[in-house]
Amino acid sequence: MAEQVLIRQGAEARVYKTTMPDGRVAVAKQRFSKSYRHPDLDAKLTRGRLNQEARSLKRCKEHGICVPEVIRVDKSSATLFIEFIHGPTLKEWIVANGNPDQENELMATVGRILHQMHSFDVIHGDLTTSNMILDSSNQLVLIDFGLSQISSSAEDKAVDLYVLERAFISTHPNSERLFATVLEAYSVSEAARLILRRLEDVRQRGRKRDMSG
Ligand SMILES: Nc1ncnc2c1ncn2[C@@H]1O[C@H](COP(=O)(O)OP(=O)(O)O)[C@@H](O)[C@H]1O
Ligand SMILES: [Mg+2]
Repeated sequence: MAEQVLIRQGAEARVYKTTMPDGRVAVAKQRFSKSYRHPDLDAKLTRGRLNQEARSLKRCKEHGICVPEVIRVDKSSATLFIEFIHGPTLKEWIVANGNPDQENELMATVGRILHQMHSFDVIHGDLTTSNMILDSSNQLVLIDFGLSQISSSAEDKAVDLYVLERAFISTHPNSERLFATVLEAYSVSEAARLILRRLEDVRQRGRKRDMSG
């Protein structure tokens, strides 16, 4: 067994850096069971997320979106082996970066990539600046598709963007300008403009929810 280094202990999965038998550096994302869930439901959820994560990664790759390559899906241990991406997360990059032009350019890239991803109906489900990595050739790589789904609904796509907006607000102070640049670059088709109008509704519902506590 190759050496495994724990990168992150999450609520649903442990993420390790490991080496495959052929020497490739990989990430092993192992989902574990949650004792508060009924064992059958738990196994079903775990299996579903493992499969969906692998499926969405492959679908994105087929359409030319930068995502880690799927190396192996091990159902018996609920582990997904994917290519290791070297580089900071977008969150780390934003915190460390002081160049507004570079920042703007990167935000436009985020918007373009999300527009492309939504155009073939992948909903990421957990868009945050921690779920994007800037690789060594400065490509933006999307990760963490465990909550993803395939849907053509404008509502689902608007909610996907809303999740990212909330993540920006809570993670990066004074990030309104950054997220506005994301949306501007996203809005390059009639379908996208419809989704942005939908985003307005989603925001309003969010505000109502906040007010009613
Ligand atoms: N392919 C990868 N290459 C490099 N680091 C990764 C990769 N996948 C995940 N990570 C690192 O592990 C962290 C957690 O992985 P993630 O898939 O987002 O699981 P979680 O559901 O716990 O958020 C990421 O924020 C990132 O730092
Ligand atoms: Mg994550």
